[in-house]
Amino acid sequence: MTLFMVCAIEAPCKINLHLSIGEKRPDGFHNLSGIFVSLALADTLRFECSGKEGACSLEMNWTLSGEAISRELPRESIPIEKNLVFRAVSLFRERTGFKNGLDIRLDKRIPVGSGLGGGSSDAASTLLALNSLAGEPLPMEKLKEMASFLGSDVPFFLTGGAAFVSGRGELVEPVKFPQGLWVVLIKPPFSSDTAVAFRLLDQARERETGEEFPGKKLPKKALIQALQEDPGTWPFRNDFFGANGANTGAFRVILEDLRKAGACFAGLSGSGSCCFGIFNAREAAEKAEKVLAGQGNFTKLTFFLAQKAKTVVE
Ligand code: C5P
Repeated sequence: MTLFMVCAIEAPCKINLHLSIGEKRPDGFHNLSGIFVSLALADTLRFECSGKEGACSLEMNWTLSGEAISRELPRESIPIEKNLVFRAVSLFRERTGFKNGLDIRLDKRIPVGSGLGGGSSDAASTLLALNSLAGEPLPMEKLKEMASFLGSDVPFFLTGGAAFVSGRGELVEPVKFPQGLWVVLIKPPFSSDTAVAFRLLDQARERETGEEFPGKKLPKKALIQALQEDPGTWPFRNDFFGANGANTGAFRVILEDLRKAGACFAGLSGSGSCCFGIFNAREAAEKAEKVLAGQGNFTKLTFFLAQKAKTVVE
């Protein structure tokens, strides 16, 4: 049963303030633990029920500000069957019997291949939007299970905000949200492939003998507590940093530039290629964004988003 004809929803991106990668599991995925925080940089999705039963069209509009991004990722470069929005639609139809024809419009603002989780967020928002359109047939538990099936980062985006994330990515515990901070995103003009980054990390670890690479696991309680402290004292790290082969040098330069520009914490998001700086004052963040713009970098001044926006239905 369809109660509404149109549903619009924002799909925010995230950064990983901390990302610790554990052992490879029998299913080929790695256990991880991290602090994920969503940001006020979002794609927008609009779903309209129209057309033939079972049909689905997707119009993608790229509104990225970095010139290099559009050159690097032409619209036609994402195969339709790999698009997570289509996969989420198919899965939702399969599980609920929802058959309405759909015209989807996706306004893309989150750079692809950046470690900001744009595709995963689009998928989570698609599940939430379709559930709204269909009159909420599925409880959150069911949506979580479907989100995990679609991808490791998708469950986090069902709720957003700040969370301690573990397992393969499906265990999401909301944590107290850090207040009053500014974030500057810097994505160099190349992208990162997550599966390749995991492989490089495994290879780097195999080469290492003896000591756990690249450092000891920080206890969950300490990580959650640290989030409420001054970012200048955060013990957070990202295990992908340093295991990214040829790209490590470029990341190192960006993080150094962010610190020089006044960031009290700087890091890499996911497996890259987007880096971020955390600032206490807006003026310093604005200045840093200006200084680091250029050289083909995508840059964006933004802030943490306390919670996911609700769907808007008509
Ligand atoms: O789940 P997702 O499709 O985003 O994962 C992409 C790739 O990243 C996987 O195929 C796997 O190689 C790797 N991955 C992993 N462990 C995770 C998440 C992702 O090994 N927890």
